[in-house]
Amino acid sequence: MTVSYRAIRGTKDILPIDSPKWQSVENTIRDVMHLWNYREIRTPAFEETGLFARGIGELTDIVAKEMYTLKDRSDTSITLKPEMTASVVRAYLQNNLGKQLPLVKVYYIAAMFRQERPQAGRLRQFHQFGAEAIGSPYPEVDAELIGLSVAVYERFGIRNALLKVNSVGCPLCRPRYKELLKSYLKPLLPKLSEETQHRYESNPLRILDSKEESDREIIAGAPMIKDHLCTECADHFRTLQEQLGQMKLKFEVDGRIVRGLDYYTRTAYEIISPDLGSQDALAGGGRYDLLVKELGGKETPAVGFAAGIERLLMVLEKQKYDFQAEVNVTVFLAATDDAGRAWSLERARELRAAGLACEVDLLKRSLKAQMKEADRQRVRFVIIVGDKELKDGAATVRNMKSGVQEQVKFDRILDHLKAR
Ligand code: HAM
Repeated sequence: MTVSYRAIRGTKDILPIDSPKWQSVENTIRDVMHLWNYREIRTPAFEETGLFARGIGELTDIVAKEMYTLKDRSDTSITLKPEMTASVVRAYLQNNLGKQLPLVKVYYIAAMFRQERPQAGRLRQFHQFGAEAIGSPYPEVDAELIGLSVAVYERFGIRNALLKVNSVGCPLCRPRYKELLKSYLKPLLPKLSEETQHRYESNPLRILDSKEESDREIIAGAPMIKDHLCTECADHFRTLQEQLGQMKLKFEVDGRIVRGLDYYTRTAYEIISPDLGSQDALAGGGRYDLLVKELGGKETPAVGFAAGIERLLMVLEKQKYDFQAEVNVTVFLAATDDAGRAWSLERARELRAAGLACEVDLLKRSLKAQMKEADRQRVRFVIIVGDKELKDGAATVRNMKSGVQEQVKFDRILDHLKAR
């Protein structure tokens, strides 16, 4: 069939057949977040462009190439949020959240927008869950955030996810390391891919996470920042690893985890799944001690992570996760004539008010067709009413599982259904 309009490339409908899975996954995420005492924050879908440009970094791929930016009718440049951290910090500052609590722990589940080249696991509108803890410099908080993200995947019973941690240092040790990296790469530049060559001046650290096979060989011999940290960053990284060990979390130190956003200091981490293909990051995050100040607040240490929900669903499907996400109505009210139909509509309202999910026949179908529909919808009971039943004051109630059919007085119907 030709349709006049289609969803924009890289966006997807979540259809009624799939939405129960999303609801089930979101409920589980909320449960875990609440167990760790994180409270939900919801921020607008769009913000002033400057917030992201400043927060994420002008030279990052997200800001340079991927943002959905437009001028609104009052000529303000606005951007659909490509990530949540900058928005959360903006909300934290605007609402003075730090005044109310010394450590602000928030989580979110929301849609993000990035104009990337769509492929499996990469969309232009996608969904993230994530958490941010704003107000503590201690590596224990980094460990808590990492532990929280791992706990979500454990709760889903995900197998073979891999936790990779790194430290990207601070303004004291990173510039020194950048020079070291650049002098290592300089003679090898002609051998690097074109994109990587571009990054040499603008963002040399990102060269380390190049996916190009030919680059990777060269990168394997490069100095890694984790080996060139200042004393404080090295202490922080060591304590973090001790903490993770105490939490019995399996992890790997990987010097190539540098992240695609500029705000990170010290801890950077990712959770990878081999079930995802080339876009293999389930989650990523780290510490961002300078962002609050960068966005106009006073210096406030913070750490957080975000994770793709579509990617989580891909892994869950692959690992045959039982979503337990069937949402069937309990009762179908079938009418044999108009009088029965009028009665059904009224009674359905009462049963719903009493907490039973009901469906009525809204297509004036034959009784046979209604029974078929009730069967297709896997309801537990069908209540059949027509002129005769109305005269008798009793409906036919069929238990669809056992096949038993009983006459039940109208005023006993609710008790009858609830007893079974
Ligand atoms: P990010 O690495 O850009 O980090 O995104 C986090 C996760 O979102 C990725 O690991 C991936 O699962 C998912 N994701 C990203 N882009 C796409 C896409 N185009 N399609 C589908 N899924 C995608 C951040 O967003 C940071 N704000 C994380 C953070 C929070 N750092 C500190 N606090």
